[in-house]
Amino acid sequence: MPAYAVIGGQWGDEGKGKVVDYLAESVQAVVRFGGGNNAGHTVVNSRGRFQLHLVPSGICWPEMDNIIGNGVVVDPDGLLAELADLSSRGIDTNRVLVSERAHVIMPYHVLLDSLEEKARGSEALGTTGRGIGPAYVDKASRGGIRVGDLLELEDLMPRLEQTLAFKNELMTKVYGGEPISLDDVLAKCRDWAEQLAPHVGPAEQTVQDLLARDNNILLEGAQGTLLDIDHGSYPYVTSSSPTIGGAITGLGLNPQSIAGVVGVYKAYCTRVGEGPMPSEIQGQVADELREKAQEYGTTTGRPRRIGWFDAVAGKYSRLVNGFTGMVLTRLDILDGSPSVKICVGYRADGRDLDRFPVNTSLLDRCQPIYEEFAGWDQPTAGATSLSQLPQNAINYVKRVEELVGCKVQIISTGPAREETILVEPVIH
Ligand code: IMP
Repeated sequence: MPAYAVIGGQWGDEGKGKVVDYLAESVQAVVRFGGGNNAGHTVVNSRGRFQLHLVPSGICWPEMDNIIGNGVVVDPDGLLAELADLSSRGIDTNRVLVSERAHVIMPYHVLLDSLEEKARGSEALGTTGRGIGPAYVDKASRGGIRVGDLLELEDLMPRLEQTLAFKNELMTKVYGGEPISLDDVLAKCRDWAEQLAPHVGPAEQTVQDLLARDNNILLEGAQGTLLDIDHGSYPYVTSSSPTIGGAITGLGLNPQSIAGVVGVYKAYCTRVGEGPMPSEIQGQVADELREKAQEYGTTTGRPRRIGWFDAVAGKYSRLVNGFTGMVLTRLDILDGSPSVKICVGYRADGRDLDRFPVNTSLLDRCQPIYEEFAGWDQPTAGATSLSQLPQNAINYVKRVEELVGCKVQIISTGPAREETILVEPVIH
């Protein structure tokens, strides 16, 4: 049986955690393939409310394999804290497996993230400060340390010593920061190795074996397409590939094994951090939506920027991922709005644009062209079937579907697992 991917269609925070928890009922494994603990996936079900950063969102299902693939950058302290918290709440974490090829976020990565952001001044990216960018930089420059290396500390020593000496030069001489002691880093590595060892293994082989034994698996995207290092609003992006290509390299997956790629979109838009967002809105409407939806970052607590649904960006995401279907989340947040808008085009420098521009300054100058729809008073919150939706909400969903260019398979009407409308099956 095949793999199905759940990918963010916007700037992250689309509600992928809830969707993965819901769909995981029909799979044997949930696998993260990219990003790190910059992600914040919220899962609400009969076992409680969980905020996950690295642990895949299938963790609440019994006997589920939850795998962290080679494309993920792992902060061991973050992962261990998350595992301990889940265990203390009665969740079995024994089947969490971390790829030995995944790169480690080292203490100097976290420090460099904040030093670099400070040095960027007014050009700061608004990173989550979790060391994600610097860890991926080291991966690409071949100076990274992998989870498997932690288990072979003696072999790692010379490389670690050299790397740390270089990072200390960089942190102190270029950025004016404080150095980190080798002894402290070594002590951490020893502790991580001991605690993580039972969870470390050949994740790509495990994924292949699961597929060969006819199991369905779910690929859990983190962040979103518009934050993708290649396809997003560069340079205001994360340092990984949250798009479907990242799932292949981030797991060592055979592309033929992917049977469906579901794009998750919020019924409006949010963005956290800097960078252009053509359909951003300010003022009372934005404030009300933010408060109603509690649009504050799960990882950093920062208020999220709010905008109307951006169908230009949405269509672009569909194209670069080849979405076979979409999930529309948080429809209930629009309940009671007198009217709702969809951005159907951009206008900049006196002309209309028919695609998502590559140039960030141009994207920044884009003015949204809106279609406006009558809102709905009858709530969609908690609805579990299409027949419970008011006609205006259905009209809205249909228009989103038409503009993005793929079928809405699931509508989410609340944070809990059961507050879901399954329009058509995603996993076969
Ligand atoms: P980084 O991933 O911490 O380097 O941050 C780069 C950009 O991606 C910043 O604008 C972050 O706010 C954004 N970002 C990273 N992870 C997430 C996420 O899970 N949801 C939403 N935005 C994110």
